[in-house]
Amino acid sequence: MRKMAIALSKGGVGKSTTAVNLASALVQRQRRVLLLDMDTQGQVARMLNVAPPHNVAEVISGDVSINEALFEARPGLWLLAGGRGLAGLKRAIDRKEFGGEQTLSEALASLDSSYDYVLVDTAPGWDVLTVNALFFVDEVLAPVALEVLALQGLQEFTRSLAAIRRYHQRLELRYVLPTFHDRRVRKSDEILQQLRSHFTTQVCNPIRYNVRLSEAPGYGQTIFEYAVHSTGAEDYRLLAERILSDEHAQTNA
Ligand SMILES: Nc1ncnc2c1ncn2[C@@H]1O[C@H](COP(=O)(O)OP(=O)(O)O)[C@@H](O)[C@H]1O
Ligand SMILES: [Mg+2]
Repeated sequence: MRKMAIALSKGGVGKSTTAVNLASALVQRQRRVLLLDMDTQGQVARMLNVAPPHNVAEVISGDVSINEALFEARPGLWLLAGGRGLAGLKRAIDRKEFGGEQTLSEALASLDSSYDYVLVDTAPGWDVLTVNALFFVDEVLAPVALEVLALQGLQEFTRSLAAIRRYHQRLELRYVLPTFHDRRVRKSDEILQQLRSHFTTQVCNPIRYNVRLSEAPGYGQTIFEYAVHSTGAEDYRLLAERILSDEHAQTNA
């Protein structure tokens, strides 16, 4: 079971878009996928047009079991929803004297390991929920919008990751995903080159700017449901292939 956080401190870079569409692409390749939403906005459920009766905050507080909260949003695609309940949880974790960063990992310790992938969508910023998500996963995929200061934002994020790695050594920034790529904009390619020169092995093929990707959530659909022939669908399929190609390299499965 691979556990991966989709994370970057900056908002609006395509984290939730990537979480939903990558999950969907992996399901199409017959993987069992669990999407875990650690954002108080609870966007993931809305993007998939589902309304699960329970959320991850209730699992952590012990009000419901994991199995009660797991919601099959699509065949083979399971969701542990986020949402406003996470705000209360955040306060509860803040009050803990120690071990707060392991709260999520402890609550999900009995998670059915028959999932091939657990993808964790995270909120922008750097709060206890994101820190909990990073202690839970082994891999990080950082979507980076190809705009000015992209590299600086990513470098800052890697410094924060390094602080967590002191306590959680397996954690690795495995993938850097350039997003909003636009060939017509010279800066876009320049910044892509910058990323590639600093993060050589981690940089994936970019996700192009594609208006279909921004429209699909309005219909409660993944890009594969809304516009299967779009460049957005093509790019997320390719990202899934990249991630699948690393499966055999996993040693700590
Ligand atoms: N490649 C893309 N092309 C066009 N619009 C996109 C693309 N990726 C994401 N979007 C849109 O940009 C906005 C921010 O994306 P989102 O995934 O919510 O970012 P985050 O979760 O990092 O805040 C959303 O409206 C989304 O639909
Ligand atoms: Mg988001």
